[in-house]
Amino acid sequence: MIGDYVSNEELIQEARRRLHQGAWDYLVGGAASETTLRRNRLAFDRVAFRPRILVDVSEIDPSTTFLGQRLRIPAILAPIGSLQVFDPGGAIPVTQAATEFGILHSVSSVTLPALEETAAATPTPKIFQLYIHGDERWTAEIIGRVKAAGYAALALTVDVAHYSRRERPMLTRYQRPSQSIIPDRNYLGALTWETMDQIREMAGLPFMLKGVQTAEDAALAVEHGVEVIWVSNHGGRQIDHALGGLDTLPEIVQAVAGRARIIVDGGVQRGSDILKAIALGADAVALGRLQGWGLAAGGAAGVVRMLEILEDELICEMGLLGVASIGAVTPKHICPAEPVTPPHEMSSWVNMPVGRIQ
Ligand code: FNR
Repeated sequence: MIGDYVSNEELIQEARRRLHQGAWDYLVGGAASETTLRRNRLAFDRVAFRPRILVDVSEIDPSTTFLGQRLRIPAILAPIGSLQVFDPGGAIPVTQAATEFGILHSVSSVTLPALEETAAATPTPKIFQLYIHGDERWTAEIIGRVKAAGYAALALTVDVAHYSRRERPMLTRYQRPSQSIIPDRNYLGALTWETMDQIREMAGLPFMLKGVQTAEDAALAVEHGVEVIWVSNHGGRQIDHALGGLDTLPEIVQAVAGRARIIVDGGVQRGSDILKAIALGADAVALGRLQGWGLAAGGAAGVVRMLEILEDELICEMGLLGVASIGAVTPKHICPAEPVTPPHEMSSWVNMPVGRIQ
């Protein structure tokens, strides 16, 4: 059944049928006016391809390597809190899907089940995403658990100095079942470059800084020894009126100048989006809502199907662009263009209602 879906549009419609209003709002909503959310899509919609012809694309390899791992496509699964809202297994089916398909899963520190259970669910490497919710002792304890559980890398999320006003769930008074497991949000607002250094040293794992949005901070992060710059505005869920994630990528690529690897996220919905991000200098993209929609539509099988469709789209676009491998994608394969749709968080799908799916 799930395998019969031919477009991720169908998975999203199925997810909408299965989720009650509160869970849907929690997944799709952004902060305040949702300007950042819409700009995430607009940034992709403003890029066009410059396809090259008469290139041998009879064999296409869409894979890449990242953190020493082969990724079947240049994408990882972004951390999503409270995955149990979309499937009772929470992070387990997502990690199973990542293993089955062949990409990395970043496990959120605010999802169920316990980080050890998710780590043990499959034998493949995983990334752990950390929010700082306590003092130094709290941090040392959780990092000890992350290392003991065998996580391959640590991603520290730093775009939540204040929790934003997410008005879709606020307006319906929706309370996530796990909201009570967040011990103390105040510590997030007190983080500095110095505390980041301490956390990075304490972990001794490949370190990813998630939530970088400017060249200045990217340069600082590299100076502080960060191995992976994760360009993200949290899927438009934190600061309102920011630039789209893809819009901030060029200045960050320039500032990093090859000294760190780069992930970008925010609005990635199609194989063509992955190619645009690679052309602008990212090493890989991260998938947030797409993962939630796949999970809600069909558990682990839904996430795998979502990824298979994304891979099909990617291979097709690579063939038409005239690139047989990810390494062959260059900035010359894209150019700026006028968007053909109004800024809209579902702008990738032709049959989605214009305006929000309620
Ligand atoms: C998130 N995101 C997120 N980020 C993080 O570092 N820790 C977390 O626990 C969460 N939780 C979370 C829940 C939900 C429902 C969403 C939609 C997003 C942000 C996420 O990792 C990623 O940055 C964005 O989702 C990327 O944008 P797209 O792909 O959703 O447009």
